[in-house]
Amino acid sequence: MPNQPKRALAAIVLAAGEGKRFKSDTPKVLHDLCGRPLLAPVLDTLAKLDPTKTIVVVGRHADAVQEAAKRETRKPLTFAKQERQLGTADAARTGDEALGDFSGDVLIVPGDTPLVTVKTLRALIAHHRNQKAAATILTATLDDPTGYGRIIKDKQGVERIVEQTDATNTQRDINEVNGGIYVFDRAALRSALTKVDKANKQKEFYLTDVISILREKGEKVLARAAAQAEEILGVNDRAQLADIARHLRKRTNETLMAAGVSIVDPTFTYIDPHVKVGKDTVIHPPSFLIGNTVIGKNCEIGPGARITDSRIDDGARVIFSMLDGARVGAQASVGPYAYLRPGARLAKGSKVGTFVEVKASEIGEGSKVPHLSYIGDAVIGRDVNVGAATVTVNYDAETKIKSKTVIGDGAKIGSDTMLIAPVNVGKRAVTGAGSVVTNDVPAETVVVGNPAKPLRKRKKTKGDG
Ligand code: UD1
Ligand code: CA
Repeated sequence: MPNQPKRALAAIVLAAGEGKRFKSDTPKVLHDLCGRPLLAPVLDTLAKLDPTKTIVVVGRHADAVQEAAKRETRKPLTFAKQERQLGTADAARTGDEALGDFSGDVLIVPGDTPLVTVKTLRALIAHHRNQKAAATILTATLDDPTGYGRIIKDKQGVERIVEQTDATNTQRDINEVNGGIYVFDRAALRSALTKVDKANKQKEFYLTDVISILREKGEKVLARAAAQAEEILGVNDRAQLADIARHLRKRTNETLMAAGVSIVDPTFTYIDPHVKVGKDTVIHPPSFLIGNTVIGKNCEIGPGARITDSRIDDGARVIFSMLDGARVGAQASVGPYAYLRPGARLAKGSKVGTFVEVKASEIGEGSKVPHLSYIGDAVIGRDVNVGAATVTVNYDAETKIKSKTVIGDGAKIGSDTMLIAPVNVGKRAVTGAGSVVTNDVPAETVVVGNPAKPLRKRKKTKGDG
């Protein structure tokens, strides 16, 4: 390689558009794509390129977009406000102004193109630099190019881009489309932007017009295809959002399968991009793994699991259940039909079974809550058995106070026990079926009735110390 001085790179993200075709009160780039705002993947990808400056052009709902963008990336961003949405060239000009005296290459990316990869962007920039072009356009050949700008080429490279609405029928037959992503030499971009007008059907300042302007000045404009055509797909309406989400999930699933996870039916398995899953885990459809979920090795997930922001350790099973902010220990079993709410912590080898809801509670190692129970604000020790239809009565409707239930190791809670919190059940204590436990139960004691009263000491059973 000749020893060329390294050219600087800046990035401009266009995210000020109205997103009219969404027909939404929420700005387009903030709509959810696999658990994060649509804008987030583009920011992730740009961060990997580490540009000297990243400008985000905001307009409609600028504050909300700005806040979300800051939340979604750790890299510093500069925001430039486009006061009126006059078109992509006007947005690019707004971004360019925020670049100050920057000199080098400018990568322009729309905020609505989340599938583009860092590999493709690197190749685009390298091609642009090797060829010493004034502009290099990321393109793709689509079976159905409807809606995209068409690439008109000649011997020298790209002559111009024609928008769908302005294209003739012959031009519409061109399948090579503009991905809306470009690298420009900054000086060339800056001067060309001043010459863009609104002489088109949409009466907008088109960034795409910069191409023919540069060519008329005799500058070199090239096209470079994305590694995969899908990378350039943009999101202009909700149908395209759903389509892009499907592509993104396919990628996530393929990455996990390549790493040793079995996904029985990837079409009906919805995994957010940042979810981690260990090898030899089997995921049955339909299942949803959402947010910051981490799943260990050798787990059995689904059918019918909806797991949000939860951690599931090695060898655990979750079947037909909903988990939100829960922790499930190794070899533990959840469901069928369990609901684990925030703060549910199931220790190793424990079980939460059919029609059981657990909230802000610990279930100790080897303990079981097999059927039809509500466990809220409780700490349950080891090897406890909670009989069917047990309720921790944790909420006093009069005082609106929530209280704790503590159950010691080895206790046996009889079916249909009501534990009126705050209450402690001692180690190896037993409550009879239908007891209403209003007072603390001493260790090793059997209580029965409503209100529950001590009956006798618990019998020693085989294996007791
Ligand atoms: C644009 C391209 C089209 C290309 C397609 C690729 C133009 C004129 N057309 O069309 O050739 O095939 O992208 O996806 O550029 N924006 C602003 N301010 C504005 C207008 C738009 O910030 O005033 C932003 C939008 O938020 C969006 C991006 O620019 O992120 C592109 O605008 P959009 O209206 O989606 O352009 P397309 O019609 O998709
Ligand atoms: Ca678009």
